Amino acid sequence: MCGIIGYAGHRPAVPLLIEGLRRLEYRGYDSAGVAYVEAGALRLLRAEGKLGELEKKINGRDVTMATSGIGHTRWATHGVPVERNAHPHKDNSGRLALIHNGIIENYQERKNELLAQGYTFSSETDTEVLVNLIAEGLKETGSILRAMSWAFARVEGAYAVALVSPDEPGVVYAARKSSPLVFGQGLGENFVASDIPAFLPYTREVAFLEDGELVRMDANSWQVFDAATLEPVDKPLHHITWDVQSAQKGGYKHFMLKEIFEQPRVVADCLAGRVDLRAGRVRLPELDGLEPPRRLTIVACGTSYHAGLWGASLIESWARIPVRVEIASEFRYRDLLLDGDDVVLAVSQSGETADTLAGMRRARELGARVLGLCNVVGSTVSREAERVVYTQAGPEISVASTKAMCSQLTVLYLLALHWGAAKGTLPAEVAARALTGVHGLPQVIEAELPRMRERACELARKYASVRSFMYLGRGQSFPLALEGALKLKEISYIHAEGYASGEMKHGPIALIEPDFPTFALALRDPLFPKVKSNLEEVQARDGRIVALTHPGLDLTVDDPWIIPEVWGPLNAFLALPCLQLFAYEMADYLGKDVDQPRNLAKSVTVE
Ligand code: F6R
Repeated sequence: MCGIIGYAGHRPAVPLLIEGLRRLEYRGYDSAGVAYVEAGALRLLRAEGKLGELEKKINGRDVTMATSGIGHTRWATHGVPVERNAHPHKDNSGRLALIHNGIIENYQERKNELLAQGYTFSSETDTEVLVNLIAEGLKETGSILRAMSWAFARVEGAYAVALVSPDEPGVVYAARKSSPLVFGQGLGENFVASDIPAFLPYTREVAFLEDGELVRMDANSWQVFDAATLEPVDKPLHHITWDVQSAQKGGYKHFMLKEIFEQPRVVADCLAGRVDLRAGRVRLPELDGLEPPRRLTIVACGTSYHAGLWGASLIESWARIPVRVEIASEFRYRDLLLDGDDVVLAVSQSGETADTLAGMRRARELGARVLGLCNVVGSTVSREAERVVYTQAGPEISVASTKAMCSQLTVLYLLALHWGAAKGTLPAEVAARALTGVHGLPQVIEAELPRMRERACELARKYASVRSFMYLGRGQSFPLALEGALKLKEISYIHAEGYASGEMKHGPIALIEPDFPTFALALRDPLFPKVKSNLEEVQARDGRIVALTHPGLDLTVDDPWIIPEVWGPLNAFLALPCLQLFAYEMADYLGKDVDQPRNLAKSVTVE
């Protein structure tokens, strides 16, 4: 789970690599480094900590000569995050430099063999093993291309790698297996990176590398090969339409805040072309010709899992399809009962989450059909799913996911309508109400966001000193309670528990005291009276309560947060930004690094 970039062209490579790494820093920021060839020698610059530390090292050096090189920003998997473990890593001869995103699972075995052959290691990383294995391959085969193929045949696990060598100045090699890698074709320059924004200022023409592919590029040419056979592979180029601006902060203090405020647009983009108000139906051409599932399993992690939980109840209710929602890291290792009657829906913003991908693969092996609900076009989930419905939320840079969840809820809502209509289980008047409601939703969210932020600021000032928060919700608000708690803990580091309000009395209520406040979702729905009683139980234990609630509801709490009411399930779309903004303002007030919370990375491409 790191960011990698490679460049071969006509510009000074080092500043370009640093700039690209800045746009990849969301993938990891434990250490960073670059490698380039200068005057026939391999140069490495590496630093522990964020990219700024590497820049400090570079300042004052003349690094303008090299016009090709590789760069890496690390999220540690093997070895503590210190400089000796920072990428790039050199082989023992000092002729090869390699960067790597992923994990070589059998690295210890290979390392023992290399040690027995006299190789030495200065880091604890699997990457240093891989670069020395490639060096060994070079001895065996005589060319870097063949050496890489030779080495990949001997390793297990996941990798996206890039390599430079003074033996082939101006050339960058890159390859992938189970970790993301895209190629970008410019004019007199070529790029590879973990993600498109890294090189988007320079080109919009990209090729998505597949597992088991290897690319050799210099300033003016590039060729993709099958890494096993070294047969050339023809790769189509795709034109990227979104711009760099959408990958920048756009005037907001943090990406997270920008992305929260993008949600009205995200809902509108998600709906565009998919809602036919006149015909009273949803159009999802991606699913044309596919029968509604008889049984559905939603597989996801983290925030995407919470979105899945929310969507499940709608699909059950409108389409009468039995749905279970599974945490991917549990699902993948269970003795699963799946067959051809099952449909598995993988929900993932990045489309690269290792556990979700593994869950999809298990399901497919067992004969289930696998669909993807995904944001990143060309990602592994989108390519491995039989069909994919894109969430169209645009790049999400903040590590804490916000707008992606909003887009997932929107698509799940449309899916429930689509399958409900296909099965004839959805009454026409409900469908009509659902469609007009969702159509008007972006304007409602847009109008409310500034007020929500003000209230979030007030409450953050009042509650920022607490050490724990309980989040409670019932029914469709339960997944939102889980999400509120996740947001708070991941960016403000305040302990938070998300709980079903009715389950509270079975244990967690023991925690309640004045310094352990509760954030309640007490919206107008059939379960409101039950939620109210649960909150009275909290009050009876001197627990303070912030309650997200609707006008006119009979509820007395310390801090009511009244939001406008919309139709039924759409209320989630107004509650969600409040939860996100509350977490955001708490974290910002406490001076936390909102966009890059400690210990986290955007895309979890390891188990
Ligand atoms: C939380 C967050 C994570 C992700 C999870 C799944 O803010 O971002 O919990 O939701 O890692 O990621 P995707 O959706 O990319 O599979």
